[in-house]
Amino acid sequence: MPESLSGAARAAHPTHPPRPSGPFDAVVAGGGLIGLATAWRAARRGLRTAVVAPSADPAAASGVAAGMLTPATEAAFGEEALMRLGAASRDRYPSFIAEVEADAGTPAGYRARGTLQIAFDTDDLARLTELGELQTRLGLKAERITSRECRRLEPMLAPHVRGGVHAPDDHSVDPRRLTAALRRAAAARGAVLVSDTAAEVLCAGGAVRGLRTASGAELAADRVVLAAGAWTPDIGGLPEGLLPPLRPVKGQLLRLRTPAGEEPVVSRTVRGLVKGAPVYLVPRDDGEIVLGATQEERGRDTRLTAGGVYELLRDAHELVPGVSELEIAEACVGLRPGSPDNGPLLGPLGPSAPAGLHLAAGHHRHGVLLTPATADAMAAALLGEALPEEARPFAAVRFAPQAGTGTRPERGPGHGGGHDGRDREES
Ligand code: GLY
Repeated sequence: MPESLSGAARAAHPTHPPRPSGPFDAVVAGGGLIGLATAWRAARRGLRTAVVAPSADPAAASGVAAGMLTPATEAAFGEEALMRLGAASRDRYPSFIAEVEADAGTPAGYRARGTLQIAFDTDDLARLTELGELQTRLGLKAERITSRECRRLEPMLAPHVRGGVHAPDDHSVDPRRLTAALRRAAAARGAVLVSDTAAEVLCAGGAVRGLRTASGAELAADRVVLAAGAWTPDIGGLPEGLLPPLRPVKGQLLRLRTPAGEEPVVSRTVRGLVKGAPVYLVPRDDGEIVLGATQEERGRDTRLTAGGVYELLRDAHELVPGVSELEIAEACVGLRPGSPDNGPLLGPLGPSAPAGLHLAAGHHRHGVLLTPATADAMAAALLGEALPEEARPFAAVRFAPQAGTGTRPERGPGHGGGHDGRDREES
């Protein structure tokens, strides 16, 4: 229901069905970074938009993510198209942040300090060197540097760090601040924020007609965007098997606090490989350091585990021993939305789906990085324009069921497969 209606007012009318709202040009199901940025950008382009999302789910990826904007140090063989989209989105960040902050009137937590990627042992260094070739091919700035140069950039690194890669253009953003700013920016542009759960897409005559919420409100619109992260498959009203499968990919993280008056243990994002396992430390201006993250395929399990936390702290301590002195402020578990090829699903699903149905889902590890590019692509799709060139390999239609066969392709073109995630499936 509309945000302006207080909880007390809702409780006072428990038997009255909520009033239908709209009509809107587009209703977005999902109020994380992807949903909000889509609604905000579409509103800036003149569409009347609404966003339907429950008040924050603690496992929603936008509230848990560290906020690395690091396509160079995330580069993985087999994911070239995804990295190109990531680099384009990263390059959009400064102007995107300026526009969001101007509309919101509050800072969005962008921090342009670069990223250092470091290796614990010689095998880890060999892996970083291999990736250097890919970074160069993709035109991503990433300079191989010695162990001593790494410590010159980050004096609190362990002396045995073998060397690394400096990516001066890979920055970070605080996803919680950006989410809050996007909510204000979207509202300032006239988007209606509805605090409810998206329950069902309303369809008639082969086209979407709007969205019904869990509390029974109906929002009329001829375009509906499904952008509810790992919860997107819960939205009903669509033929069985229409949506490409999305799987939750669990991530455990710690938020660490630097004691008052002390220097933070790192000044820029530090990504490490420790015996093949990735770990990252992402500092904020207020001294918080986000330490992440596990990558586990365990369905909707959101338990914080001793093993997950132990491995993160063990590996971070190997690279930056001072981590052990920090206070643990918060432990978080989030669910990333993983698509069949780990690339995002953008825009309409094609002729097998109701007209006006769009996806902005499946961003897996890259939702924060891909927020500006997704917002641009989705606003274009909602206005009936072609997706921007770098987003085209990620058109949702690549996984649409094939007419007549009911099957869908298993992989999208030009990407998928490689990643450097901290897989703990076997543990
Ligand atoms: N983007 C980093 C992660 O998903 O852990």
